[in-house]
This record gives sequence, C-alpha cells and structure tokens, in this order.
Amino acid sequence: HDPQIPPYTTADKTSFAHTSAEARWPVILTGAIDDVHRATWKTDDDEKLKEGKKIIEELAKLKYELQHNRQLTPVPDDGEGDVKSYNVELEKRGSPTWFDVSWLYSECYLYRRVNTLFSMSKHWKSYDIFENQKMSTFKSSRPAVLELASRYKDLIHEIKTANDHESTKSPQEIEAAEEILFMEMCEICLWGNATDLSLLTTLSYEDIQKLQGSSARKAAEKNIIANDLPAAFAALKAVQKNGHPHRRVDIILDNAGFELFVDLFLAGYLLASGLATTVVLHPKSIPWFVSDVVPKDFGDLLGFLADPRAFYETLSEDEKHAGKTPEPLSDGDAENLAFLFESWRGFHAEGQLVIRPNRFWTMAGSFWRMPGTASELFEDLQESELVVYKGDLNYRKLTGDVMWDPTTPFVEAVGPLGKGSGMRTLALRTCKADVVVGLKKGEDERLRATEGGGGDSGARKWAWSGKWAVVQFCDGKQK
Ligand code: F6P
Ligand code: MG
Repeated sequence: HDPQIPPYTTADKTSFAHTSAEARWPVILTGAIDDVHRATWKTDDDEKLKEGKKIIEELAKLKYELQHNRQLTPVPDDGEGDVKSYNVELEKRGSPTWFDVSWLYSECYLYRRVNTLFSMSKHWKSYDIFENQKMSTFKSSRPAVLELASRYKDLIHEIKTANDHESTKSPQEIEAAEEILFMEMCEICLWGNATDLSLLTTLSYEDIQKLQGSSARKAAEKNIIANDLPAAFAALKAVQKNGHPHRRVDIILDNAGFELFVDLFLAGYLLASGLATTVVLHPKSIPWFVSDVVPKDFGDLLGFLADPRAFYETLSEDEKHAGKTPEPLSDGDAENLAFLFESWRGFHAEGQLVIRPNRFWTMAGSFWRMPGTASELFEDLQESELVVYKGDLNYRKLTGDVMWDPTTPFVEAVGPLGKGSGMRTLALRTCKADVVVGLKKGEDERLRATEGGGGDSGARKWAWSGKWAVVQFCDGKQK
C-alpha cells in the first residue's frame, strides 16, 4: 500500500536522488572500502584477512555496478526474512538500473546489499563499517555535548523547583513554562539531526560544530518552516492531566553519536518531567545510511559517559598523525557528564528507558506499509501516546518519498498512519531530500527564490542541505 503519486527517482536530474546516486553513494562506498581495508590489515587471523579481502572486492564490484549504471541484482539470501521482500519488489520493478529507479527503494537496497557481505561472512558478521566515523564525529561535537550536559543538570533542577513552588504559581503559569521547556527540548533534538554522516561528504567538522550550539539553535528557529510542537505538547499534557498511570513515548531513532545523545536528552527530560513514564527507543538492526543507530551504539555512548576523560584525553592514531594534543576535561564538565550518566543509567535500570529493534525499520518500503507488513509493530505503536520520528529518511518513509504538492496536509501524506490510525505521529526533520508537505501556500516558491534555493532550475535545492526543518504532528487517536 503506497501513495499513488510518482516517487522521486535517480533518473530525475533535478532531484537530490540523482545527485545522491552520482556523487554521494560512490564516496560512501569508497569510505567503506577504506575502512575494511584498514581493519583487514590490523588482523593477524588469516581466515579473517582472506574474508576481508573478499568483502573489499565485492564492495568495489558494487561501486562499479552503480557507476556503470548496471541492473540491481537480487539481494543474496543471508537467512533474514526481509530478503524475500526486497527481491520480490525488485522483480516487480523489472530489475531496474541504478540511474532509473525509485530513490527510496534503491538507497535502502544499497545498504541492505552491503550488509549481506558482512552478515554472510564468518568473521565480520556484526562489523559496523561506519563505527569509526560515528565515534570520531561524536568526539568533534565536544563543545555542544558539554554545553548540553550542563543544561541537563539545570533542567532537572528547574523541574524540581517548579514542582516545589507549585503553590505560588497558577496552573496556567506552570503549564506555559512547561510548554516552553518542551519546545526547547524538541528543538535541541530536531537540530541534532542536521549533522548526520551521510551528508558529511559535503559538510566539514567545523560546519557541524556551528550547527550544534545553543546560539545556533536560537538563530535557526526561523528556519523551522512548519511547527506543530504546541499541538504535540497539548496532546501529551492532556494525557498526563487525565491521570493515565502509563504514558509511553516512542522515538524512532535516526543517527548515532551527537543525535543519539540529544535523543536521550529528550527522553530524560520527558521522564523527569512526567510527560512520559516510559520511553521506547527504536534503533536499526544493521548498519544503515552511514550513521544510523544500531544497538551497539548505545553501549558505546554509555561507555563514553562512564569514562569521558579516557574518551577525550586519549588520542587515536589519526589524531596523533594530525598533530593534535589532548585537551583535558575540566572537573565541572566531568561532573555534569557523570550526572547525565547516572540519570540515564537510572532510567534504564528502572525499565523506563527501553530499546526495541525491529527489522521493519530496514526494509525498503514506506511506512504506509506498516499496518500490512508489520502489524505487530503497528499495534505496539498504537499503545504509545506519541511516536516521534527523527530525521530525513524517516520523513521520506512517512510520506512515501513521492512528489507531493508541498501544500498537501501532513495528515494526508502519512496515509494509513493518519486520521483514525490510533497513532500519534510527530516528525522532527531537517530537510535533506526533495519531499516536503504541509507548507503554507507560496513557501516553497519563496525558498526556491533564496540564494542556492534552486531558482527556476526545477530543483528544490533549498530542501537538500539540512538548513531548513519541518516539525509536523498528526493525532491519529482523534476520531
Ligand atoms: O538526502 C540525503 C540523505 O543523506 C539521504 O540519503 C537520507 O534520506 C538522509 O539524508 C539521511 O539523513 P537522516 O540521517 O536525517 O535520515
Ligand atoms: Mg540517518
């Protein structure tokens, strides 16, 4: 069940699909080859080395097929249930070529195909080609991480004192203050998405750091071109007021590193404020779109928080080569990080912070298919009070990645997840692809006319860089 509107395809030279297939995917595959190459030469296990070389060969072959516009071949059967659905769909699409295929299908297929090279090996089964990149970019997010760690401590304090002073403030005043805080937390979480690694082929580390601080966030508020946060807050607040003892919020995660850090920040806030009693986090099951969260990334992040000094003060080989010197962590920063760690560890130990993977998230189709192909997951999410979808790819999947008129209401573009679905959906998305809905009339035209916005080239270039964002809500629980 997909929207009956043409999808974005790699054949369309005005779409970011084409640029992605032509300029970004080969770079990503080259990075993968380099990574396995380095890991291969580090091993002294002959069998592993041999397998590593084979994987490198296969990755190079895939890159060749892509760059020479060959047909997409069936995904090899690694024993996972999704292979059949990938291949049935490939056949239905008539075994297309790389430069004439639906963007959403082909990009998911690319990561799934790469994954089989590892899943079918003996020594590289759970190897994540993107892990080194994820952690080194996280390290370069240090200023924002430390700023947020200090903010988290204040935040918990603010929540406590607000509760203590409840009697001196009117309920309206308290609620207005809560709403402002909710908006701030969601905005932190939103902009954390601007920095995914699949766009690193065009952004420098310095650009990334600029995007992460609080002053950058304030300045970027005007770049949120559709903002339904007040409605999302009202829905959650109503549930809390009604005295439901179980108030669950789900976060369909996107990227690891800094973005996962801010997702946990939002989760911690929701739990501490009582807007939620449980937060369920949904990672991917395989390395995906370069930087997406896999379960191991949680361990890595918590490992960092458990010993941030070791993380920041030990230099990697690459950093030593680049002539970097360790920058010691101040006692205050170390304390703030320890506070965060205790808070998140506590929620996890109490069962309030749960991680729940599902293979559905790495299938090729849009979320319109969820009720049909992942009915258990759909029913599970209906139990939640709010399902937050992070990032660009999740937005493309919510809307089917098709050529909607940009003024189409969000509730219509999410199809079966819309009215009467029993699910409340909140998308926090920085725009990094063509599809966009729910805009005011004339907004797309206004943005196309801005510098670098695409002008009359026919391309919606303003929507490709992560500079603009949409925050859209649909209350599917309302009849
Ligand atoms: O459009 C660029 C892109 O890299 C796509 O490949 C993908 O949709 C997306 O951005 C990844 O971004 P995110 O991590 O926000 O889903
Ligand atoms: Mg991502």
